[in-house]
Amino acid sequence: MKVIGLRENYEIERKPRFDFFNLLNVAILQVSRQYALGIKMKDIVRWGIVGAGGIARRRTIPAINEISNASIQAVMDTNTNGMIDLMKEYDIPDVYGNIDDMLRNADIDAVYIASPVLFHKEQAIKILEAGKHLLIEKPLGIHASAAKEIMECAKTKNVCAGVAMVMRFHDGHQKIKEMIGHKDLGEIVSCRGQLTCWFPPMEGNWRQNPAISGGGALMDMGIHCIDLMKYLMDDRAEKTVGIIENKSFSYPVEDSASFMLKMKKGATCYIDAYFNIPDQAAKCFLEIYGTKGSIIANGTIGQDGCGDIKVYIEQEDKGYESSQVRNKQAEAVNMEFEQVNMYAKQLSEFSECILTGKEPRTTMEDAYDTMKIIDAVYESAKEERVIYLYN
Ligand SMILES: NC(=O)c1ccc[n+]([C@@H]2O[C@H](COP(=O)([O-])OP(=O)(O)OC[C@H]3O[C@@H](n4cnc5c(N)ncnc54)[C@H](O)[C@@H]3O)[C@@H](O)[C@H]2O)c1
Repeated sequence: MKVIGLRENYEIERKPRFDFFNLLNVAILQVSRQYALGIKMKDIVRWGIVGAGGIARRRTIPAINEISNASIQAVMDTNTNGMIDLMKEYDIPDVYGNIDDMLRNADIDAVYIASPVLFHKEQAIKILEAGKHLLIEKPLGIHASAAKEIMECAKTKNVCAGVAMVMRFHDGHQKIKEMIGHKDLGEIVSCRGQLTCWFPPMEGNWRQNPAISGGGALMDMGIHCIDLMKYLMDDRAEKTVGIIENKSFSYPVEDSASFMLKMKKGATCYIDAYFNIPDQAAKCFLEIYGTKGSIIANGTIGQDGCGDIKVYIEQEDKGYESSQVRNKQAEAVNMEFEQVNMYAKQLSEFSECILTGKEPRTTMEDAYDTMKIIDAVYESAKEERVIYLYN
């Protein structure tokens, strides 16, 4: 079927859906949302990039370049050094040193923000006010209150708005989520996660300045574990307690964050986020334990979509074993998964959301909820007490 888009320049090839009746409800919901958002049909989303630094250059720009439903129309950075080379390398038509100029470009449909955290709120609101779709890097805002302002603004606009939480796009994590959803592990009782990197003091680095970053290892790395655990268990935290400190480096953001989350459905989560463990020494484990089994993932929390995942499922209902002899390794099965480019998958899916009206994988509401948890962990550490999130 060929659908002619409202913009004359674009046509869209739509493959026939093979299970029409089963998908009818979903399709009706998507179409009505699409109309509600006033989204025009076309086959490609033209992106503007705000903050063409580390993550944008290493991951997002190359990722957009390799997917079929998106292209890069413009990049904007307050530091325009090296921009010409970037434009040439990726065939990018426009470059800006100022976001207001970029937002006047009618050829930009959507904007991806990857600037330092302090600027997220002002830039996101400008983008939304300009009527552009928005994908914003984590953390959504420097505090939950900034995140809330972005979320409230997005609600009033007919655009697709979401947050880049890339760990959700790891194929193994997707399979773990399905297993948990099917109750293959029984009731989840405990979950542990770690994300670290070696981050010694660096003169002038914005991540080490709390006025620009909002915090250290928790804001930058712990956030991925919080989001991933919420996503895998389809759950939210109801209380938290944490320890935030500088064990190794004297910069004014924390190099060490350890905290617990008690989830609404009952699981207890333990998260470690550190800036002071050597990269190769850390294993970035994800461990999930339930009443019927466990999943131990090694190295899946990271940027490369790799790692290995072992699954242990108890085959029969057993009583209490008083001997407690455990001199044999349990029979674990290696989980098969595809090593995908998570950034490409994320950008492709978000572009598809814009084109079809589907809801993004990480909504503003979800990312705001995560920011409330982060604020609560800082508060818990400061006041040395348990913080309840929803009274
Ligand atoms: N999802 C992930 O895997 C991942 C990984 C790294 C960073 N991030 C997030 O991406 C964002 C950027 O991090 P980074 O590591 O790329 O930082 P970075 O310092 O490497 O790059 C930031 C870029 O923004 C530019 N910039 C500074 N102020 C600006 C402004 N006001 N407007 C526009 N551009 C401005 C800088 O010149 C720089 O090029 C942060 O929110 C960070 O948390 C996400």
